[in-house]
Amino acid sequence: MPEFHRIEELPQRVGGETVVVRGWVMTTRSSGKIAFVALRDGTGYLQAVLSKKDVSAAAWDAFGKLTQETSVEVTGTVRADARAPGGVELTASDLVILGPSVDFPITPKEHGTAFLFEHRHLWLRSRRQVAIARVRHEVIQAIRDFFYERHFVLVDTPILTGSIGEAAGHLFAVEYFDLGTAYLAQTGQLYVEAAAAALGKVYCFGPTFRAEKSKTRRHLTEFWMVEPEVAWNDSDANMRLQEEFVCYIVARCLERRNTELAELERDTAPLERVRPPFPRISYTDAVAKLTALGSDMAWGRDLGGDEETLLARQYDRPVMVFNYPRAVKAFYMKENPADRRTVLNNDMLAPEGYGEIIGGSQREDDYDRLLARIREEQLPEEAYGWYLDLRKYGTFVHSGFGLGVERTVAWICGIPHIREAIAFPRTLYKLWP
Ligand code: 4AD
Ligand code: MG
Repeated sequence: MPEFHRIEELPQRVGGETVVVRGWVMTTRSSGKIAFVALRDGTGYLQAVLSKKDVSAAAWDAFGKLTQETSVEVTGTVRADARAPGGVELTASDLVILGPSVDFPITPKEHGTAFLFEHRHLWLRSRRQVAIARVRHEVIQAIRDFFYERHFVLVDTPILTGSIGEAAGHLFAVEYFDLGTAYLAQTGQLYVEAAAAALGKVYCFGPTFRAEKSKTRRHLTEFWMVEPEVAWNDSDANMRLQEEFVCYIVARCLERRNTELAELERDTAPLERVRPPFPRISYTDAVAKLTALGSDMAWGRDLGGDEETLLARQYDRPVMVFNYPRAVKAFYMKENPADRRTVLNNDMLAPEGYGEIIGGSQREDDYDRLLARIREEQLPEEAYGWYLDLRKYGTFVHSGFGLGVERTVAWICGIPHIREAIAFPRTLYKLWP
């Protein structure tokens, strides 16, 4: 294949040199003598200009056959044009069709959400979806860089697991040879706890699965979660780490993905305010605050989506709600010695109605209390022998949290529903494409 250039490289190629670009046609228009092709190749957007008198009859003829999403190869020279995307335009000397495209289903007119998701494999090509994908990529790279710079070790945890990580009611089960039932991981946490005793500061990052029949705009059945776990961090240090982490991710997107955020028409002012310190409020105070705001929230219940939104609206940056009732949280959270009805945990609620983006806690490090909790929750004790061992052989104060990638991406992009924050979402209703 002859050499060609990606659109992102073209600003460095302004001048006489001939370049070849391959991409897909977005739109065309022509005045009879001059023709314009708007192209994209994934790395950028480009307008190619053909003038009838300067190109071959074959090239002019090919122009006439272009339809939306035809793949093409365009040869020409790069000209600076301040008004053009990327600051350049291509003066074409040749155009060849590589792959025709007949009746591309997604036209510039408005389509319904159901239709678009049925065509998700094609919808991914739209400017908006490309922008979201690039923000997601930046978020993920920022996550990895944050932990790498702070000397955390990545530990990959299993997806097929024997022990239940979060809520027994929300498991996907698969038959596992002669060993009975395996579950798709709801979390890697129990395993990174083991790894934290080996490596000190660790994290896992991968897909997690929840068979929740939730139809909200915040729930997927398969989502990506990053879970750091730190030996000797208490709940307070855990919250400080979360704050630093979220500020880092948001700052990275503002710095490196401003073009995409502009494409998404994201008002970046609320993101610019994401700086430490984040407000903190205890669950008990949050209930009082919600009640004062007219909510019928009662002490003892978990915060629902509406309560989270109402509470978060009182602040101009993410808020951390700490020390929830033990009864509404997972078995592994450490009991609060100052108030045994609560645990040493926290959720982080994003502003602008995006809800919980982080759930974290200090872990129960006392063998007997952890065993009592496992029994209380009627979890299969034999599956947790290895987990209890961590409290038997040099138990240690440790904390960690999980940040949901899609909720974070949806918030940063300012998109209403998290199903657009992942290329191929899985929900109660979506298994294809
Ligand atoms: O609060 P969760 O369930 O916490 C855990 O799984 C802990 N094991 C984390 C830890 O301490 N290591 O989930 C953490 C985050 C939520 O705050 C949310 O951002 C995301 O994961 N999340 C979901 N995202 C999309 N769809 C769902 N169904 C989600 N459930 C949780
Ligand atoms: Mg949670």
